[in-house]
Amino acid sequence: MGHLRWSSSLELGIPEIDEQHQSLVSILNAAHDALDREDASELSALVQRLQAYVVDHFAAEERILEACGYSGLASHVAQHRALASQLGNLIQDLREGDPDVGVALTELLRNWLVNHITVSDRAYAAAVLSSRSRRS
Ligand SMILES: [Fe+2]
Repeated sequence: MGHLRWSSSLELGIPEIDEQHQSLVSILNAAHDALDREDASELSALVQRLQAYVVDHFAAEERILEACGYSGLASHVAQHRALASQLGNLIQDLREGDPDVGVALTELLRNWLVNHITVSDRAYAAAVLSSRSRRS
């Protein structure tokens, strides 16, 4: 599968979240390239970077949702935790030298990003934007 292209369907209208999502997409695409080149050390470096970025991004997103009193916070956090643990397991397999895991990993992230952003993140966007407009 090719690159994940950023498009308006992935945009929430919350600038800092959109920027972070764009960064995730570009690290994911770089990991995809490393996979195509069969560059294992580059792939593993990028996957580490993705994991660290995902952790920071989830924390930032959860802070924003908490600040605006989002009612779906608990189930949103649960989705973040589930992805973080799936990602951790696959990264462990990658470290143990499983040759097929690179594809599984990039596909997981790609599908997860698209589904999570277009469904779950979109569900909070209106709440965050209206809470911000009330405060400004
Ligand atoms: Fe999220």
